[in-house]
Amino acid sequence: MKILLGVTGGIAAYKAIDLTSKLTQAGHEVRVIMTDGACEFVTPLPFQALSRNPVYTDIFKEHHPQEIQHISLTDWADCMVIAPITATTIGKLAHGISDNMLTATYLAFNGPVYIAPAMNSKMYDHPAVTDNLMLLRQRGVQIIEPGAGFLACGYIAKGRMSEPQEIMDVILNRNVTNEVEQDLAGKHVLITAGPTIERIDPVRYLTNRSSGKMGYSLAQAATMRGAQVKLVSIDLPLEVPQGVEHIKIESAHDMFEAVKSHMDEADIIIKAAAVADYTPVEVYEQKMKKKDGDLSLQLKRTQDILMYIGAHKTHQYVIGFAAETEYVEKYARGKLVKKNADVIIANNVGDTSIGFKSDDNAGTMYFEDGSEKVIEKQSKLGVSHEILTQVIKKGFK
Ligand code: PMT
Repeated sequence: MKILLGVTGGIAAYKAIDLTSKLTQAGHEVRVIMTDGACEFVTPLPFQALSRNPVYTDIFKEHHPQEIQHISLTDWADCMVIAPITATTIGKLAHGISDNMLTATYLAFNGPVYIAPAMNSKMYDHPAVTDNLMLLRQRGVQIIEPGAGFLACGYIAKGRMSEPQEIMDVILNRNVTNEVEQDLAGKHVLITAGPTIERIDPVRYLTNRSSGKMGYSLAQAATMRGAQVKLVSIDLPLEVPQGVEHIKIESAHDMFEAVKSHMDEADIIIKAAAVADYTPVEVYEQKMKKKDGDLSLQLKRTQDILMYIGAHKTHQYVIGFAAETEYVEKYARGKLVKKNADVIIANNVGDTSIGFKSDDNAGTMYFEDGSEKVIEKQSKLGVSHEILTQVIKKGFK
């Protein structure tokens, strides 16, 4: 894909270097336009080196005299992303002010545009900015919302530019949606994602490190391929993919009830959730008070949801995961048989660059016919597409 990357003057401009690197490594062509403000924070050189293209900073400096660059770039690009975008540039785009190379190119471009704001939270919440963003949204610009966290001004609040990987996922997903084969059209897919929460008392609970990214990526991939998707998870700080029905739960018991009541209409069930195996026997209504000495909590087993699905499935294709740290194949194959799944995807959660919380995953699919398929390390969305492709190849109809 040919991507026009605009960079404006904010501290997050350094993250745009990483975004350029990630996009080019993934095989996309990138051309970069920087505002004067951006050049105060980072220089054009890293963008030039990573994109292997000249960087555009001045509308009056034409690199090729036979072309008008703020027009020819728009003929070249498939999409435009501005990351980070400041309040000033948001205002210029909203009001058609074209006083530099970036804003002039934006006005001449009629393809998909993505903007990733980054600024102080008070600026972001100012009515001038929110109104301008609304105007842009109404005109079809996709806003990649900033996240909350530590801001350069010392605040801990919303205003941090989205991470390069998230921006990349948004741009690429949206642009490949039209090209993805609708090979799950008309199918119903039920997915569980993330951890469960097992309450001890009103302020304490047991949970685990799962972020939900794997399950949410599966939901995204399935919906891109035309499926009707139901996603069962706790309330997570992740965006539910457009078109996906979110069924909010809290405990393993809630997840079991949700799966039980939706499994009949599902054609594919994917259990990517990290379900608690144990839950407290007693849930205290009031906060437990500290006492001298140690405390023992009595836990009881939760329902094994995948095992229940395996025992009660009729027509459903059942996909389980196995989070392992050792004897990965042995344990995964054991779960395949014990839980009567059609395939188990084993991921080695001992490797911190994949599995829990990370943006990437890798693993091996163990099928009930004895065959296996290795999935190379890639983004969780890539892994999700690979899983669905393999399931379809296996003859799932
Ligand atoms: O959420 P992320 O941060 O993106 O991380 C993704 C992941 C590592 C959580 C995911 O890829 C994964 O491996 N999910 C399964 C985690 C797990 O609970 O594995 P397990 O080996 O303990 O369980 C095996 C299977 O049984 C799983 O499909 C699980 O959903 C299911 N199970 C387990 C216990 C239980 N009570 N009910 C279940 O259905």
